[in-house]
Amino acid sequence: MLIDLHPQPADMARLVSEGMARQPKQLPAWLLYDAEGSRLFDAICEQPEYGLTRTETSLLKAQAGGMAAALGPGVLVEFGAGNARKVGPLLEALQPPAYVPLDISAEHLAAACHQLQGQHPQVPVLGICCDYSGLDQLPCHPLLEGQTLLGFYPGSSLGNFTPQEAQALLVQFAQLMGPGGKLLIGIDQPKAVARMEAAYNDAAGVSAAFAKNLLVRLNRDLGGTFDPAAFHYQARWEASQSRIAMGLVSEHPHSVELAGRSWSFAAGEALISEYSVKYSAAAFTALAEAAGWSCAQRWSDPNNDLALHLLVRADSTATAS
Ligand code: AVI
Repeated sequence: MLIDLHPQPADMARLVSEGMARQPKQLPAWLLYDAEGSRLFDAICEQPEYGLTRTETSLLKAQAGGMAAALGPGVLVEFGAGNARKVGPLLEALQPPAYVPLDISAEHLAAACHQLQGQHPQVPVLGICCDYSGLDQLPCHPLLEGQTLLGFYPGSSLGNFTPQEAQALLVQFAQLMGPGGKLLIGIDQPKAVARMEAAYNDAAGVSAAFAKNLLVRLNRDLGGTFDPAAFHYQARWEASQSRIAMGLVSEHPHSVELAGRSWSFAAGEALISEYSVKYSAAAFTALAEAAGWSCAQRWSDPNNDLALHLLVRADSTATAS
């Protein structure tokens, strides 16, 4: 079953205009994920340079039993589920009363729900198509009534928000999960710069195609006049912000029409398509605590490339002790 809460074109146009007016120009990362963008992101996850997905999938497989025991009973709500390929071991170990994947790409989500329902017939699956970063409450549904909610946010997607936005998102998740709620969240760790830059500059050019598809999508959905050939893709580590900055750099001065307005680009000017902030264990713990969560447990792979943290609402720990 699928509930569709995808943002309307007017909301998209407003968000795009706000982003284009920023300095540097920067658009919300969820716009990257139309049907083609979601397909390209899945292809990025298969690239040899991009180890995040493989590492996290292995860690989940190896530790699902312990994670399920630490989570306890409740409905599992996955934020940004995409193809929902990581959740299988957790569903097996947890056997939740329902699984609720949230994603911005309706086509991708429908396919994932269909496949998962076939693989786990005993767990009811309720997909919700939405921008989870703008979601202040879950829709009323009998599957959610009276249940403890357990958030699952793998993939280190928190890094695609600025630290201020990330803190606000963690606060929002605490509110969405409600009293007794928990959150299992995947966080990519800082690594050697060459390795991180290679992960976002794969030799096959899939990362570049993923970013350029944003322009194709804006042309189609918001009447844009972008020429993708007038931009080149760039991904660079910015040490002072502990992040990879991904953007499309204008080859020459030109203007584009978008969302009913004209926007000019200077030669060399970047349109930021995404940031990917990397948090050490200490930096992430501080962020989570500032957002009202306590870090209950942490699992990582042998190289400490990626960690899964179990967060519990700080007000629940205070009540318990
Ligand atoms: C979804 N997110 C965690 C990816 C990342 O690693 O920041 C998005 C991505 N963009 C290009 N490559 C990967």
